[in-house]
Amino acid sequence: MTDQDYVLGYTDSEQKRLIRQAAIIAPITERLFREAGIGPDQRVVDLGSGMGDVAMLVAQLVGPLGEVVGVERDANSVARAKARAATAGLRNVSFLNTDLNNLADERPFDAVVGRFILMFLPDPVSVLRSAVGLVRPGGVVAFQEPSWAPMLALGARLPLWYRTRHLIHETLLRSGANREMGLALHRVFQEAGLPAPKMHLEMPLGSDADFIKLTSDLLHSLQPLAEQHKISIKELGDLSTLPDRICAEVAAANTVVSLIAVVGARSRKPPADDSPRGEPVARQRE
Ligand SMILES: C[S@@+](CC[C@H](N)C(=O)[O-])C[C@H]1O[C@@H](n2cnc3c(N)ncnc32)[C@H](O)[C@@H]1O
Repeated sequence: MTDQDYVLGYTDSEQKRLIRQAAIIAPITERLFREAGIGPDQRVVDLGSGMGDVAMLVAQLVGPLGEVVGVERDANSVARAKARAATAGLRNVSFLNTDLNNLADERPFDAVVGRFILMFLPDPVSVLRSAVGLVRPGGVVAFQEPSWAPMLALGARLPLWYRTRHLIHETLLRSGANREMGLALHRVFQEAGLPAPKMHLEMPLGSDADFIKLTSDLLHSLQPLAEQHKISIKELGDLSTLPDRICAEVAAANTVVSLIAVVGARSRKPPADDSPRGEPVARQRE
């Protein structure tokens, strides 16, 4: 994987899938950020902001006197995120169209956050280290990344569901994305100069058609890449009927399946000896 590759691509259907996925994961993300200490008046940077869902969630937490900057490489995603924030009436969030390898800002942030971004970066430690460099001493660092292992283990009893998830996993593996970045956060935080993070793992579960369609839509987004890597998804049959067939399999077993295991990690930048501890930048400026 090079710096220019982003395996999920930027089709309209992929962007809509991201928004639907974000709605399901939002409560987990909000819990992590609250536990991490993100709150009113803070200035926060969100790495890999995509359609803007994480940045907009943080914008609610920091309130009108706080500020959120989403950083995103894709210009079209930035435009859509800006439009969504404007529609939501959020004036405290802005989006910067740049690569995370070019991070810079004149004023320090109180926190750096990100969701499903470090897994796509060839060098997550160096990006995290430079992002932490923009955070004030004592500031918050909070990330959510996936772990695929629990989902594959739990899905093994449902053949079609398991095959679908396995082929997605295989495609991500060959593309260089780190499917286990969630657990790797323990190491990545420390290599970026942070104390070992506090971590937890949560898995959204569901059985309804909308929930299951998130997985078949993810496969759809990855289809060109799967073909490029000669991973045959033909064995899944007609992809247009795949969601219905998975739903039938899940209903027949009267069970639920998981979206993805979401690992949350939170830490704080070590305080500098002479800095005021735990005070948001906004308050320090007053
Ligand atoms: C899976 S999406 C996650 C979006 C959002 N954080 C969320 O959870 O809904 C990852 C996003 O990171 C962006 N991205 C990937 N590599 C990047 C880089 N090097 N610099 C800036 N953005 C990047 C992609 O363009 C994509 O929009």
